[in-house]
Amino acid sequence: EDGGPQPEKHCGHGRGGMGEEVRRKEDQRFITGRGNYVDDVKKPGMLHCELVRSPHAHARIEEIDGSRAMDMDGVVAVLTAEDLLEYDLATMPTLMDDTQDVLVNDKVKFQSQEVAAVIAEDRYVAKDGAEKVDVTYDVLDPVVDADDALEDDAPLIREDIEDKEDNHIFDWETGDEEATAQAFEEADVTVEEEMFYQRLHPAPIETCGAVGDYDPGKDKLTVHMTSQAPHIHRTLFAQVSGIPEHKIRIVSPDVGGGFGNKVPIYPGYVVAAAASYVLEQPVKWVEERSENIQTTGFARDYDMTGEIAATEDGEILAVRTDVLANHGAYNAAAQPSKFPAGFFNIFTGSYDIDAAYASLSAAYTNTAPGGIAYRCSFRVTEAVYLIERMVKVLADELEVDPTEIRRKNFIQPEQFPYESPTGWNYDSGDYESALDLALEMAEYEEYREEQQRRIENDADKLLGIGISSFTEVVGAGPGKTCDIAGVEMFDSAEIRIHPTGKATVRVGVQTQGQGHETTFAQIVAEELGMDVDDIVVEHGDTDTDPYGLGTYGSRSTPVAGAATAVASRKVRDKAKTIAANELEADEGDIEWDRESGEFHVAGAPDRSITITEIAAGAYMNNPAGEEPGLEAVNYYDPPEMTYPFGSYVVVVEVDRETGEVEFEKFVAVDDCGNRINPMVIEGQIHGGLAQGIGTAMMEHVTYDDNGNVTGGDFMNYLLPTAMEIPEFETGHTVTPSPHHPIGAKGVGESPTVGSPPAIVNAVVDAMAHAGVSHVEMPMTPDVVWEALDEAGLAQ
Ligand code: CDP
Repeated sequence: EDGGPQPEKHCGHGRGGMGEEVRRKEDQRFITGRGNYVDDVKKPGMLHCELVRSPHAHARIEEIDGSRAMDMDGVVAVLTAEDLLEYDLATMPTLMDDTQDVLVNDKVKFQSQEVAAVIAEDRYVAKDGAEKVDVTYDVLDPVVDADDALEDDAPLIREDIEDKEDNHIFDWETGDEEATAQAFEEADVTVEEEMFYQRLHPAPIETCGAVGDYDPGKDKLTVHMTSQAPHIHRTLFAQVSGIPEHKIRIVSPDVGGGFGNKVPIYPGYVVAAAASYVLEQPVKWVEERSENIQTTGFARDYDMTGEIAATEDGEILAVRTDVLANHGAYNAAAQPSKFPAGFFNIFTGSYDIDAAYASLSAAYTNTAPGGIAYRCSFRVTEAVYLIERMVKVLADELEVDPTEIRRKNFIQPEQFPYESPTGWNYDSGDYESALDLALEMAEYEEYREEQQRRIENDADKLLGIGISSFTEVVGAGPGKTCDIAGVEMFDSAEIRIHPTGKATVRVGVQTQGQGHETTFAQIVAEELGMDVDDIVVEHGDTDTDPYGLGTYGSRSTPVAGAATAVASRKVRDKAKTIAANELEADEGDIEWDRESGEFHVAGAPDRSITITEIAAGAYMNNPAGEEPGLEAVNYYDPPEMTYPFGSYVVVVEVDRETGEVEFEKFVAVDDCGNRINPMVIEGQIHGGLAQGIGTAMMEHVTYDDNGNVTGGDFMNYLLPTAMEIPEFETGHTVTPSPHHPIGAKGVGESPTVGSPPAIVNAVVDAMAHAGVSHVEMPMTPDVVWEALDEAGLAQ
């Protein structure tokens, strides 16, 4: 049962508009096994590509001999960097303007890096062929740790960059260093904590893949690929290959989860497309699980020191942080160009803090490249973790309830729009209401009493209560501040109403399971008084869809959702002209009624007409001088981002004998402004919370000192299953975004961003009475047991 206290702004009017729990249209094909993923694409004469990968993390290539592979029946080609050099495709630019090898020409820089490709008639032959490519390596010392990589005597990883003498990539800072230092000097209390946000992998169930399909007849290259951003990928393909953009078509069919993993371009995509172009036959490349985890965009890997300065009664005066980021062998993060540390800028969170300063350095290491936005707006997850952990550290230092610190420092509803000390403009928020609701749903006071009882009784299982009152920043652009590879981050929607009153809507974003085919149809249904079943939403084909920047960072609703509403309203304006003609009234007298969804003459509600009748009019009885048809397109550049928020309360039991953590209660109150589909939102929250639990409790891409990935498959990279997931209780408040056409904010990433600090706070809270101030993620039983042991609590 949803505990939200506020009524929905809209009621949906029974046609499947805003606020209605419309069942997902796409589920029909997904649950009957009729989804169409890249690996389902089969073309006549299609060849298969397997990549030869380096077993070493750092090694010079002395020789590649593909002759044993070429001798095999069914092997068509063995490609190396030398072959790609001919087409100027041996390297490619990353989204952060670095240069990454497509196939290694000289030196391997991380384990499992792409060294050669075998193209064969069948996938098994290609796989066997890849094992028969003989590569001679001169093995070099690797460096996997960012701290070590910045030591003077560290091996130099990027010899390919002119004049590069160390492994340092960039420094970045934000805020006012001096004012922050001053606040720290004058404060009654200061606290400091080091925390590592470990390397994670988004691990979508569908790995990455592509089918390159060059048609020499049309001189056109079609690439079916697992892409979260097909349009920008087409632009980049055109820039890198020299093939004109209109001669490239990217098709992103059903995508089985992306979570940021499918934003960058990977060597496999390029090889499949290039091989198809050269061989004039379709070529498919689909990753295996371990290839996906070991080589494609990882997330996080931020080593952070957090500090808070406060008065003795808990008013936060300043926050400061210093971060070391491990970016792997290439700077292949996926951030808007101007933000090398993503949206880490909002590390002051939900709190009204006068002074803040962050400094960050990034280093190359012999590990896979990445730093992508795993279900988050770039680096907002790390920022939220930092501030929500630090607030708990401060509360424990002052020996006050963490809710008290939060209430004392929250930005108040009347302070919005609020400018943060780093200059970011929060649109709206009501943090205390969300916290109040979450505490009530979690029976907070009762659990606090129970916690105390257990401590007094020296119980075997300790109780911990963790809170996170996070705020988020989603919906990149605006275009002037946010761009990907120079292309401004707007988004788009095109609506065509057909003569019989049915509609096709095309959007520039690309769903990976978020239900856009349903929720974007709901926006149109709401804005045009149509039935949701009369609307089909299309995406993922650059030949037909309007240009957009794709889906990641919960930007679809804030940006393409806004475009969909604005385009609908453009259609509505045109519809009024036609309605006036049909009803023989003045256009100025035509009103649209949201409740009935009909257009009528002012003061005469019975003289009304539906959108279906108007559509017929537009094609069959178009007013003289009017352009026929009924359609509109909108490219929406958001004036600002939206700032969804929430309060999560997690109650855990910590077993003093085994270090095991059990979830006793898990309450998530979210506020994403006006809600399009509460059921879809709840699904998003559940999935995101599961990923938050994976982050806090289980997941970590680990390396040994030789650069071998030791957490690179599902035996070692542990994803949560239904067994580890507790029952979630979700609630909501509604604080609309004042600048969004339908008042909506994004929601998809909130639970992944907001839950890890709540979970860590809960585990720490169970041991805080014995002086524990931090436990590193993932909090596996051995990690927790060690913390218990150090605090003298282990049994
Ligand atoms: O960009 P992405 O689709 O990952 O994230 P989102 O914009 O937060 O949307 C996730 C899903 O939740 C979409 O189907 C949205 O339409 C839906 N949603 C909603 O129903 N109401 C909101 N206020 C926000 C999102």
